[in-house]
Amino acid sequence: MRIFSGIQPTGDKHLGNLIGGFRQYAATQEQGEGFFCIVDLHSITVDYDPEDLRRRTLDLAAMLFATGLDPDRSTVFCQSHVTAHAQASWLLSGVASYGQLGRMTQFKDKSSEREFVSAGLFTYPVLMAGDILLYQTDIVPIGDDQRQHLELARDIAERFNARFEETLVVPRGVFPEVGARIMDLQEPERKMSTTLGTPQGTVLILDPPDVVRRKFKTAVTDSGRDVVRTPDKPGVTNLVEIMAVATGEAPEAIESRYGSDGYAKFKEDVGEAVVSLFTPVQERYRELRADEGELRRLLALGAEKARAISAPTLASMYERMGFVRL
Ligand code: AMP
Ligand code: TRP
Repeated sequence: MRIFSGIQPTGDKHLGNLIGGFRQYAATQEQGEGFFCIVDLHSITVDYDPEDLRRRTLDLAAMLFATGLDPDRSTVFCQSHVTAHAQASWLLSGVASYGQLGRMTQFKDKSSEREFVSAGLFTYPVLMAGDILLYQTDIVPIGDDQRQHLELARDIAERFNARFEETLVVPRGVFPEVGARIMDLQEPERKMSTTLGTPQGTVLILDPPDVVRRKFKTAVTDSGRDVVRTPDKPGVTNLVEIMAVATGEAPEAIESRYGSDGYAKFKEDVGEAVVSLFTPVQERYRELRADEGELRRLLALGAEKARAISAPTLASMYERMGFVRL
């Protein structure tokens, strides 16, 4: 089975990324042949600093290994190192629907708050579709916020297969059972995000333990005293899910343990559970990040493997779309 996922190198990585992204990558790599891509080409679609992109690309490589990806087992690489991604994106833009791209909520959210909206922000999901389809991917581990983009990638694959010849595997999204959408601790009606959330409500994987504890202590809860997941308690629901992921317990077990004891102790305990989740990751990250030569070596190996695997799919796409091959 082929597994593919991508993650952007810009923006500090947070608890939502750990749960919807990193942890799922490490778990799914056991099930087949995993390709995990640092999607640097996606990061130029909003304002960014070139030096920052370069540094954060290596930061993210270290984080992917620190959270459990095994370079002997999985292929970890940078999107810009495999030119097939940019090429696939252009070819697929011929079968992607303009109307459907305009309905993407991420595009609507990100474009509404900016003065300058790049063309790349609009075509971003086509590049993402190419990432996935080039590897004949069966499953894509992602968080809930990428559901719509994955649906679009499936539509693109189906349209390509129908318009030309059966060429591309139609991929399936895989979402965490608990915690597929981690919410901001201050504004639990929006997702945790460094670009769209609040700084105090966004817990960074590299936050020092005291900062993590403080963010949970000041998390917004709801009225009442019951630790229970209900639609009118988005804050408490989010905290129960976070604790369930951090401790490996079932959410129901957490609810019955705290009952109607109120929120102060509960929030403190969730913070502590997250500190325990982060500590070993932070230690491994620091070690790996210190050896830049080794990170570059691993990325070069990953790129080589990714090029070899994606090349035949790209060649078939050119062929079937009617380009003269020499
Ligand atoms: P990004 O950092 O936007 O490239 O996202 C990397 C991965 O983290 C993707 O699979 C996202 O779906 C996932 N992710 C991002 N934010 C959250 C969140 N708040 N809750 C759960 N998963 C998330
Ligand atoms: N758009 C994804 C995000 O922001 C990142 C991404 C790019 C991706 N290409 C991908 C995720 C391919 C899964 C598969 O989170």
